[in-house]
Amino acid sequence: MIILGIETSCDETAAAVVRDGKEILSNIVASSVEMHTKTGGIIPENAAREQAKSIIPAIEAAIENSKYKIENIDSIAVTIGPGLIGSLLVGAETARTLSWVWNKPLVPVNHLIGHIYANWIDNTPSLPAITLVVSGGHTDLVLVKDHGNIEWIGSTRDDAAGECFDKCARLLQLGYPGGPAIAAEAAKFKNQSLKFKVNLPRPLINEETFDFSFSGLKTAVLREISKQGNKLVRQQLAHEIQEAITDVLVDKTLKAVQKYSVSTLLVAGGVAANKRLKEKFSLKIENCSPRSEAGKLKINFHAPPTHLCTDNAAMIAAAAFYNHKPTPWQKVTTNPGLTIAQL
Ligand code: KG4
Ligand code: ZN
Repeated sequence: MIILGIETSCDETAAAVVRDGKEILSNIVASSVEMHTKTGGIIPENAAREQAKSIIPAIEAAIENSKYKIENIDSIAVTIGPGLIGSLLVGAETARTLSWVWNKPLVPVNHLIGHIYANWIDNTPSLPAITLVVSGGHTDLVLVKDHGNIEWIGSTRDDAAGECFDKCARLLQLGYPGGPAIAAEAAKFKNQSLKFKVNLPRPLINEETFDFSFSGLKTAVLREISKQGNKLVRQQLAHEIQEAITDVLVDKTLKAVQKYSVSTLLVAGGVAANKRLKEKFSLKIENCSPRSEAGKLKINFHAPPTHLCTDNAAMIAAAAFYNHKPTPWQKVTTNPGLTIAQL
């Protein structure tokens, strides 16, 4: 089955053609990130205006690059939420129109579930799986029992993990998006014997709950910045921010793996691109999980390839392939507040 995916939930205008949820025939991501770098974050009206300019060229390029024709496309999949309302509307209205004009089935997709399915493009994870979804707007722990059967376990009470990276990066004047910027600055920190030693909190790490809280971290960072301010301190702070966020994410997720006795662990979303996060998961699993007779680890950990962690339309097409429930175009509506447990 050949699916055209369309994704416009935030600042990326993405279109992709994917065969059978796995083979990426084309994957176009037009980003307005440079514009948001100038403003230090996303201004929703600007993002929507850029979406409107880029959507048709992105879809045309996706079809052309796939080497297929419109007649060969079996379905259209589109993100309907969560996200910025103006941005979501551009993709959803375009998809509704194409569904009507081309007479193709239309599959509405939850953006967060799309992130999860980035794991199915280069892999076929066995289920059930504990999945950590960490993006700029969301931090959710879920149990994926089967396709179309997802149980919510916990989420952030305030800021998302990606949002915390972005806000801390702004405090350190490292630019937007903050995750890659903090990771790059942290990599420069070589543990010099500094007089200034920073210890940030690991919020809720010792509590039984599967909830997260990241808003206190940026306040702690602000306090540290007002104490010191030179370049070395910025590297040390970036390092400690990355350590604090990833410690909490890894700890809580592994507790969920234990509690639900599953052997598959997946991460998804923009923050899943973070190398230190993946390294920590691998190390902890190596050190704590019992080995089967075959010598293989009992916990199978998987993260999507880096370019499929951040927003893209291939993951939307993949999600639609495994959950192929077309809806008449007249009934497809956007929902900026959609949660991971819906759809
Ligand atoms: O999933 P995504 O592309 O968009 C949303 O759905 O929000 O995630 C974007 C978020 C941003 O907060 C960005 O700073 C973060 O993912 N991010 C990273 C990395 N790459 C992107 N965070 C940490 N390390 C990275 N390498
Ligand atoms: Zn996303």
